[in-house]
Amino acid sequence: MNYNKPKGTKDIFDVDSFKYEKTTNILKKVSNDFNFKYIETPIFEYTKLFNRIGEETDVVSKEMYTFEDRSKRSLTLRPEGTASATRLASENNLLNPTSNNHLKLFYIGDMFRYERPQSGRYRQFKQFGVELYSKPSLSSDIEVVLMIDSILKEFNIMNYKFVINSIGGKNSRKKYVDFITKELNKNFNSLSEDSKKRIKSNPLRILDSKDKGDIELVKKLPNIYNFLSLEEKESFDKICIFLDKYGIKYKIDYLLVRGLDYYNDFVFEVVDESNKSRTDSILGGGRYSSLVKDITGYELSSIGFAIGIQRLINLVEKINPDFYEEENESLIYISSLTEKSLPHSFAIRDFLIKEKFNVFFDLNFDMKMKYYFNKMNKLNPELSILVGDKDYEKNLITIKNNSTKEVIEVKFSELKNALVKLMSNKNG
Ligand code: HAM
Repeated sequence: MNYNKPKGTKDIFDVDSFKYEKTTNILKKVSNDFNFKYIETPIFEYTKLFNRIGEETDVVSKEMYTFEDRSKRSLTLRPEGTASATRLASENNLLNPTSNNHLKLFYIGDMFRYERPQSGRYRQFKQFGVELYSKPSLSSDIEVVLMIDSILKEFNIMNYKFVINSIGGKNSRKKYVDFITKELNKNFNSLSEDSKKRIKSNPLRILDSKDKGDIELVKKLPNIYNFLSLEEKESFDKICIFLDKYGIKYKIDYLLVRGLDYYNDFVFEVVDESNKSRTDSILGGGRYSSLVKDITGYELSSIGFAIGIQRLINLVEKINPDFYEEENESLIYISSLTEKSLPHSFAIRDFLIKEKFNVFFDLNFDMKMKYYFNKMNKLNPELSILVGDKDYEKNLITIKNNSTKEVIEVKFSELKNALVKLMSNKNG
């Protein structure tokens, strides 16, 4: 019988587990540094919540895993985290539209989209996401940009750039959409089949089309910037001035509209500089006042972003092949040579874990000496403790420093000091 994982999913084990763990630990650390609080939401929600992402988006119209439960409720596996985080904030009364508070939330979890699987694109994938709820303000926009900058630097990603745009508020966007719809309709027959549908349902997404003919038509359209109100222009300009001041690399792309419908004003993606297209962005986000209004009923805003963890790992490995090398530097290998000495070796392991040493405990015993040597060759521990009957009977511990080959015998009470001393003597 042959059992395979579903198409577009990924098993995580061995080295990959370590990569995910290291990556999420760094993301959690930076989130704590910036005072964001960890949240978890259910992996499924009532479908109507995710419909707020925009019924015309690919995510909602083609990619959701929607099913009825046994009570005929329509549920959907979450395709992204923003709608759920906003629902959580509202349902648990974390938002107060009249205060000057900033609610800062972050999450790490699996998302589900029925997309065509390819490298860095899965049907179940892990996302790290951040949402900052407050009145719209320049400082919140900048906070999110600086947080992203800190995250990327923690991963030694220096050569990246923000691709940014402002898609304005409802009114400006409507004016722009009306204008481009009229213009594109003049060349309706030259549009791709997808864009012919989109011109009725979601004309803004035609700006994003990869079809050569569409690209030519889009080139002739005016920039959305020209349709923004004075205030909207000013707030976008201020963000650009700030990015210049901080030396954060960016490129304005007036065609950046994002794949989800809930955004307004400032939107952005981040790409590796060597990457010519936007198709493989590591992260994306923006401001989304209307989603907050739709879900909470409050005139509040929020800005956020999400990173695909596997995409981040792929990029880190491309740039820094050593980043995920496991550090066995101060590893201590412990194994029993006999069944009789097992309690003694478990006790040693227990003590070392409590003292915060990095231990590999081998569950095999009664093996040939060759086995232990092979195992140690593979793990390359700094120190090893092989526990035999003699050690057990005399309550002693034999420690070997594998680089200097020094071997010492100590009592339990001397163990910690002896290990520290042996480790600091590693170069003989
Ligand atoms: P998104 O652009 O749809 O935005 O996704 C954000 C990131 O998730 C992408 O840049 C990519 O790294 C990763 N991603 C998306 N789809 C896949 C996939 N099929 N396989 C692997 N990785 C993927 C959002 O999800 C918004 N909720 C971001 C946001 C938060 N906006 C405001 N707050």
